[in-house]
Amino acid sequence: MEQKILELRQRARDAIKNVTADLKELDNIRVKILGKKGELTSLLRGMSQLSAEDRPKIGKIVNEARAELEALIASKNDELKAKELSNKLASEKIDVTLPGRQVVTGNLHPLTLTLNRIKEIFLDMGYTIEEGPEVETDYYNFEALNLPKDHPARDMQDSFYITEDILVRTQTSPVQARTMESHESNSPIRMIAPGRVYRRDDYDASHSPMFTQVEGLVIDKGIRFSDLKGTLEHLLKEIFGKNAKARLRPSFFPFTEPSTEVDVSCMMCHCHDENCKVCHGSGWLEILGAGMVHPDVLKMSGYDPKIVSGFAFGLGVERIAMLTYGVDDLRLFYDNDVRFLQQFK
Ligand code: DAH
Repeated sequence: MEQKILELRQRARDAIKNVTADLKELDNIRVKILGKKGELTSLLRGMSQLSAEDRPKIGKIVNEARAELEALIASKNDELKAKELSNKLASEKIDVTLPGRQVVTGNLHPLTLTLNRIKEIFLDMGYTIEEGPEVETDYYNFEALNLPKDHPARDMQDSFYITEDILVRTQTSPVQARTMESHESNSPIRMIAPGRVYRRDDYDASHSPMFTQVEGLVIDKGIRFSDLKGTLEHLLKEIFGKNAKARLRPSFFPFTEPSTEVDVSCMMCHCHDENCKVCHGSGWLEILGAGMVHPDVLKMSGYDPKIVSGFAFGLGVERIAMLTYGVDDLRLFYDNDVRFLQQFK
């Protein structure tokens, strides 16, 4: 029996020593030798057959063997764990000298930047910002603006109709009538209304079936054409700088009388270059329509033209963005090519 125990002890020592990497393998050895059904444990069971004088002697040898093997297993366990930890640390090592990964951030769209600037300029002058629906009734889009059914000026804006009386708005001007209606009769108004508008236009470098306008409306007692002119000159100088010049040409809109179209001096070529892609050498660019609000438009929305007067304007945001940033193709604003958009950081 003694011999068997010593043999087992030696075998177990070797096995423990030979474990090199695997904690699981070490545990298997522990179970096989020291576990409930292990080899050493079953040898102990056989002790009942020993004589009374052999029993303590063998018991001592078994206990010594168990103590030694347990200690060996514990120290092997520590050794393997330390090795595992150092392997893990080595594999997760960070090279702090590597260059960092760049985080890509977004930026505002050039049209949003332009709109924000326009809003800021008018908010500074005490204007409110109003909104109206993009799906609009024929009444607000045309009739309330002095364009009855079959009026020839409706042809100026080829429309997308949804039903006979509902269309996607062709201009932001309907917000004029909606705002007047929501105010007490003859009370002063100073508002802008930015938004998208839709027309059956071709899609090319200077046309798009969807584009952006900012409508403006000022109503009060004693508002004159010179107020309109001063306001627009201020706007253009704020956007294009002190040297920008404005030119007012007589024009026609059914909802204003008199009406004007406003040009700004070409920022691209300055000296009337006939190869200029933007103004083609004329030196001027049309960017908005405006005028004194027609008395009939005031009347239809509950205002009295004998008591108050007003001016209105509508400007094209894409036009202004093209001039500000030197963009010569409108479609770039809608393609959403990041290489284009990233330039506005
Ligand atoms: N609504 C016009 C258009 O889309 C622009 C315009 C012209 C608006 C004169 C106005 C205005 O308010 O007074 O062509």
